[in-house]
Parts: sequence; structure tokens; C-alpha cells
Amino acid sequence: MNTQITKNDLTQVVEADRAHLWHHLMQHKSLESTDPRIIVEGKGMRVWDQHGKEHLDGVSGGVWTVNVGYGRERIANAVRDQLIKMNYFAQSAGSIPGSMFAEKLISKMPGMSRVYYVNSGSEANEKVFKMIRQISHKLYGGKKHKILYRDRDYHGSTLATMSAGGQNERNAQYGPFAPGFVKVPHCLEYRGQYGDVTDYGVRAADAIEEVILREGPDTVGALCLEPVTAGGGVITPPEGYWERVQEICAKYDILLHIDEVVCGVGRTGTWFGYQQYGVKPDFVTMAKGVASGYAAIACMVTTERVFDMFKAAPDDPMDYFRDISTFGGCTAGPAAAIENMAIIEEEGLLENTVVMGERILENLNALAEKHAVIGDVRGKGLFAGAELVADRTTKEPVDEKLVQRVVADCMQQGVIIGATNRSLTGFNNTLCLSPALIATADDIDAITDAIDAALGRVFGG
Ligand SMILES: Cc1ncc(COP(=O)(O)O)c(C=O)c1O
Repeated sequence: MNTQITKNDLTQVVEADRAHLWHHLMQHKSLESTDPRIIVEGKGMRVWDQHGKEHLDGVSGGVWTVNVGYGRERIANAVRDQLIKMNYFAQSAGSIPGSMFAEKLISKMPGMSRVYYVNSGSEANEKVFKMIRQISHKLYGGKKHKILYRDRDYHGSTLATMSAGGQNERNAQYGPFAPGFVKVPHCLEYRGQYGDVTDYGVRAADAIEEVILREGPDTVGALCLEPVTAGGGVITPPEGYWERVQEICAKYDILLHIDEVVCGVGRTGTWFGYQQYGVKPDFVTMAKGVASGYAAIACMVTTERVFDMFKAAPDDPMDYFRDISTFGGCTAGPAAAIENMAIIEEEGLLENTVVMGERILENLNALAEKHAVIGDVRGKGLFAGAELVADRTTKEPVDEKLVQRVVADCMQQGVIIGATNRSLTGFNNTLCLSPALIATADDIDAITDAIDAALGRVFGG
């Protein structure tokens, strides 16, 4: 096997890929007649493919991950130094970067106090689900075990997280799912479900209370929500929504689990998405932006109140959280995460995210004046969506093949954007943008200019 690939000839890589790789999210038939895309190098906001073609990345590594941009030697050096010193020991013991990152992270999350390290966003969410179930057994005889999740939200690819998955096309053909997960309605005002109400946010949150009352509050242990729904169409919560959600959770003693896998670590312009809305969660999960993809790390963070529940009876061997994630003991993750967070602080990237986030929304709103196909523009920070409709009055979604043509046209122009894809029947019609938090005004304009040109070619005008 030759792993020394010569720089200018990636034929062997392409052939190895075609022969042996199973890519994520893809139907592979097309790769029998076209080459797979190999991303070879990245720097800042840009990546280069096997042909040397440059792309401006409007989606931070495809799935809103590389928050501090590509080619950060500082992170690579910190990871290298740490791996040479101490690469791994199970998390039943501590590590220097594990402790130091936990302290730093908690300093950004007033009210939270304990960090549990795992590998992926799905796994972080599963840890919460297990804790909810165990708390139910400890305190409520197993009765208060149901976990509420929201239509259009996504929490991961494992079977338990798919059981809490609000996207029917993602879930199709993977059932049966785990029992004890109950769906509540989404809060997207553009697709209003309650007629002409003035206080849409409160009404949408009241819909959660209706589900709780139907199920019986003494059976509901937790409510799991994304602060801003990501893959379900970049859904920003309507005003008043989160305040009412918090009231409802307190009223029925329901633990609030916020899935920050996408929003966490700066994406919306605050450290965490929930901090935009004054929410006080019991659990926060995060993954993608924690180390910007320089190492695999995810965290489940909770309060001292929850932590205390698992050390209340030291003589009972069934009392503690009997769980492990092997790679939660890898030190590369927290070593990378410390540098990632320092970069965000030192380069003022939260502030940049707020300013550039406003610019992206302004630009998209300007495009909406020009292209009738844009029915709704939504977003928070460097996290934006444009929902495409065939008719603004009826809000009928455009054919999703046309949405994919817009994405492909941008790619042709050297700009990578995303779109909701095989997630919601009939509603895979939202263009998604999540550039790195280092984006400049020129980068933002280049992304929206590419969309402008693509919309013109695909829809006319
Ligand atoms: C909101 C949300 N939660 C959880 C996950 C799952 O994370 P992972 O793919 O790391 O398991 C994702 C992934 O896209 C996500 O968007």
C-alpha cells in the first residue's frame, strides 16, 4: 500500500475512494460515472479539491462545524504536543486538557457546572436520555420517563436519537424506534399552525403544554429542543417562545435539554444559542464547533443539581451514572477545544459573528426583493436560511430538485452552500448558510452574490 501520495496526482486516491469508501449522506450510483469529490486542503474560509479548484466554504465543512476556519496551526500544535505527552486514558481518570477545558467551558455557561466528554453529538444526546431515564427510576418509580422532542428538530443518527427525531424522511425505513419519545409541534411562524394569532411564540409554546397535559405531566421527564432548529430549516424561535417554554418546564417539573450541537460555541453570536433567549437549561449538549473539527469531541453539560442526584446514595451500587464512552478519554479533543475557544476570544469572533450575521440577513433580504422564489429569510448570527417557494401567496414549496440545482450552481461558481435534504417530505426547500465565524464582509457578499446568480439561472429574473 502506498500512502505517500504525490501532490499533483490524486488518481490513486480517487480510485481508492471509488473502490472502497462509503460516503455519508450519498446515493452512490452517480459515482460510477463521475469522480468523487476529494477535499485536499483548507485555509481560512477556503478549501481546494483534487483538481486544485478553490471553493469559498459557506457551510463550515459542509455541516456547520469548522467555526474558526481551516489551517489553524495553533490548534494542530496543541494537539500534537498533547498527544506526545499523553494521548489517552479512560475518563474514570482525569486529564490536564480535560480539566482545563471543562473549567473554561463552564466559565461561559453560568448556572451549569459539570462536563461529560463523549465522541459525537448523537452520543452526547444519548447520555442525557439515559440520565433522564435513570432519574425517573431513582425519583419517580420509572414513571416520569417520557422525553418530548419537536417536529423538524434533529438530535442524531443513532436509534435512540432518531426516536427523538422530528424529520420524517430521515427516519423513514429505520424504525421501529425506542418507546417513550413524544413529539410536540414545531414553532416555525412562516408555516403557522394556529391561524391568525397575535402572540405566535406563546401559542407555539402552549402547544407543548397541551402535549404534556395529554400525556400526563407525571410521565414526562424532559423536553429536548434545538435553540434554533438547524437541519429542519433554520427555524429561529418566535418572540416569547422560550420564556413560555421555560415557564412550562418549571410548572411541570420537566428537565430542559438544549441541543447545541450546531449552535454551540459561537455560531449564533453568543457562546450558546440558548443564551440569546435567557433560557436556563438543565442539560446542554454540544459537538461540532467545540473544536471546529480539529479533533472529535462532544460534551454533555449539566448542573450541580443533576450531578448531585447521582451521588446521593454512595452505598447503593445502582445509584451512580454507570456509563462510559471510550473515546471520551482522548485528550486531543479538549486540547483542541481550549485553543478553539481562545481563538474565538482573542480574535473577537463572537462580535464578528453578530456583525456578519446581520450582513448575511440584509443581503438575503435584498435578494428576496429581487427573487420572488425566496419566501422567507431566517437566521441568527452566522447561521441563516432562505426558504424557497413556488408561490409567495400559497407558500407552496418549490420542487426540491430545483433547490439542489441552486446548490449545484453555486458549487460550480466555487461557492459551497447547503440545503435541507431528505429530511421533511415536501419541505426540503431551504437554502442553508453557516460560514466560519471569521467570515469577512467580502466573503459574505461573495456567498450571497453566488446565490443571486444561481437563483437567476434556475428560476429566471
Ligand atoms: C442539532 C443536532 N444534534 C445532533 C446532531 C448529531 O451530531 P453527530 O453527527 O455528531 O452525532 C446533529 C448533527 O448534524 C445536529 O445537527
